[in-house]
Amino acid sequence: MDNKQTILIIGGGGREHAVGWKVAQSPRAGKLYFAPGNAGTAKLGENISIKATDIDGLLDFVKKEKIDLTLALPDDPLALGVVDAFQKEGLRIFGPTKAAAQLESSKAFSKHFMQKHNLPTAQFETFTDFEKADEYLKNHSLPVVVKASGLALGKGVVIAQTYEEAHEALENMMIKKVFGEGGTEVVIEEFLTGPEISIHAFSDGKNYSLFPSAQDHKRIGEGNTGLNTGGMGTISPLPFVDSALMEKIEKEIVAPTLAAMASEGMSFQGVLYPGLMLTKDGPKILEYNARFGDPETETYMRLLDTDLLDIVDATIDGTLGTFDVKWKPLSACTIILASGGYPEKYEKEKPISGIEEAEKNTDIIVFHAGTTLKEGVLVTNGGRVLGVSATGVTLKEALQTAYEAIPKISFEGIYYRKDIGDKYI
Ligand code: AMP
Ligand code: GLY
Repeated sequence: MDNKQTILIIGGGGREHAVGWKVAQSPRAGKLYFAPGNAGTAKLGENISIKATDIDGLLDFVKKEKIDLTLALPDDPLALGVVDAFQKEGLRIFGPTKAAAQLESSKAFSKHFMQKHNLPTAQFETFTDFEKADEYLKNHSLPVVVKASGLALGKGVVIAQTYEEAHEALENMMIKKVFGEGGTEVVIEEFLTGPEISIHAFSDGKNYSLFPSAQDHKRIGEGNTGLNTGGMGTISPLPFVDSALMEKIEKEIVAPTLAAMASEGMSFQGVLYPGLMLTKDGPKILEYNARFGDPETETYMRLLDTDLLDIVDATIDGTLGTFDVKWKPLSACTIILASGGYPEKYEKEKPISGIEEAEKNTDIIVFHAGTTLKEGVLVTNGGRVLGVSATGVTLKEALQTAYEAIPKISFEGIYYRKDIGDKYI
């Protein structure tokens, strides 16, 4: 009997290309579909023009095509309850339920959850009333952090140096509704300092398995300056995070978070990704994400040594406790090539060349993010266009390999940070 599974991957960015690339290596992977995918995923399987947030459309497709397994990767379908909708119909899907995904989709929920369960995080208050929030701001120390509670495309956090800036942020979120309903409730919190790191763990609800540590570079400009983006580059593992610190993070953050979610009847299945700040008082949780990070995943998939489909099955079936997830003893990095102007206005449909040339070095894989085919020509189709990933014996080697390959790739307006990871080599 054919034991190959047909698989649908929801999403269309670099993370989805990287997960698809890894899944395709499994001997059990059958045909892959991506909704909506990009020009990179089109080479691994078939892109279907259903939006990641069109839950009914996705359900119809999966039933019609008799898909065996669906991987829900982006935040918005998870927040909308894609996992619940699939489970209700008896369909196999990887990802947290809507209730569990609140860890990411509602900052008010996650902050109260952390407070209730004594998980280390910044001091905070939540507000749904503008006047009360504004009054609270007047007496807060500076800088102060103002966050829209709901999803806001990674742009709902303002670090205000003055009361006036904080007041304006509050007005934008609560009165002008620049994030729509995402800003109905706000979190006002204490400003933390220290290096920021990304932690990921597979969780079957009870058992978990930590990934190596990683770091994203969220600002557009070198030296961590300028506007926040979806992420401009990642490295893993981090030279400054030793096994003692990983154990502390496991014991004080990952394990108690998952246990508390289970105790509240919201067992977390999928990938838990807490963003941490390593403060002088120890690691503190800046936020939870209920999914794989992007571009962390492009780096992680280069290091993962175990069949991803086997891990996905163990996560869904609750057998992660007896399962050994292996990582290659290498370093990896991903450098994002973006459209000029991102994260503000940028142009699309610029022809892209040189990917094959860059991939002649077998340590390089170029993952597609915002790309599409226009009349057979590969063109840009988003702010973050490509993720150039490299592996090496050391982080220095991985970064050198990536930065040597990048000049072979070109499109009009190409922009990338030249300082990813350079603090650590
Ligand atoms: P978040 O979406 O909550 O991760 O916030 C986006 C970015 O804002 C984070 O990656 C941090 O760099 C920064 N940030 C968020 N909360 C704080 C805080 N309490 N103190 C300092 N920086 C913060
Ligand atoms: N690496 C940023 C994110 O996935 O949210």
